Amino acid sequence: MRHLMSPLDFTVEELDKLFDLAGDIEKNPEKYAKKCDGKKLATCFYEPSTRTRLSFEAAMYNLGGHVIGFSDAGSSSASKGESVSDTIRMISCYADICAMRHPKEGAPMVASTKSRIPVINAGDGGHQHPTQTLTDLLTIRSLKGRLNNFTIGLCGDLKFGRTVHSLIHALVRYDNIQFIFISPDELRIPDYVTEMLQEKGISYKEVIRLEDVMEELDLLYMTRVQRERFFNEEDYVRLKDFYILNKEKMKLAKPDMLVLHPLPRVNEISVEVDEDERAVYFKQVQYGVYVRMALILTLLELV
Ligand code: CP
Repeated sequence: MRHLMSPLDFTVEELDKLFDLAGDIEKNPEKYAKKCDGKKLATCFYEPSTRTRLSFEAAMYNLGGHVIGFSDAGSSSASKGESVSDTIRMISCYADICAMRHPKEGAPMVASTKSRIPVINAGDGGHQHPTQTLTDLLTIRSLKGRLNNFTIGLCGDLKFGRTVHSLIHALVRYDNIQFIFISPDELRIPDYVTEMLQEKGISYKEVIRLEDVMEELDLLYMTRVQRERFFNEEDYVRLKDFYILNKEKMKLAKPDMLVLHPLPRVNEISVEVDEDERAVYFKQVQYGVYVRMALILTLLELV
């Protein structure tokens, strides 16, 4: 039995197969409409979510399966003090596969050690968000036609942004990726990430101004400042509008640069950018459903 805790749990070859499957699902959805007949997905979300929870649920329904779960720790027995380890033992009796989001880093990993069903990390604190990374990689592969040879700018909250940490770890396995980290000093990419890049001999640079590097980028990955991870509101308010991508800044970019964002967006991308064909963050959401369908089928060994 396999779980998904980190994008590195799959080899590059396995990811290729997963993305090929997601591509086939996109083209031939009817082929997969009954693949999960009689199967149940449990969505155990101890932290708020729109995209991840609902795209998992949509994915399971698209496969002909059923969904149970909770979307708020307060409505589960976690509010009475039940541990994640005990909860997953219960869920293993009710469902065939579980997607879990938790504010504590490592909680889905703890659950996986006690589980009799595959557990998918749907985001753990500021640590990892592997299914967002699968979504990001599928989007890049589908729209750029490759997962190598590009310069990617990651902009915003690089300290707390788990989608950023997961994506970097996944991308270092592909050839000739240049990283440009764009953040205020307070939200710099953690040292453990830059140390990993140095050890692997992968080139990166850190800048503060987005305008200074815009013309170099093939991909721009925007992120929101993570209010829920700040220790005080004052710091959040000071940093929340540090970056606002607008039409003027988009004029500095290559004609084929793509703008991605894991969403939700707050102010960091002006709505006027939405109509720019290089803005692909809403397409990304659709790819998220295909890749989660492919993941459920793969972990349930139904392909
Ligand atoms: N991208 C993402 O994780 O969105 P949600 O928090 O809405 O699930």
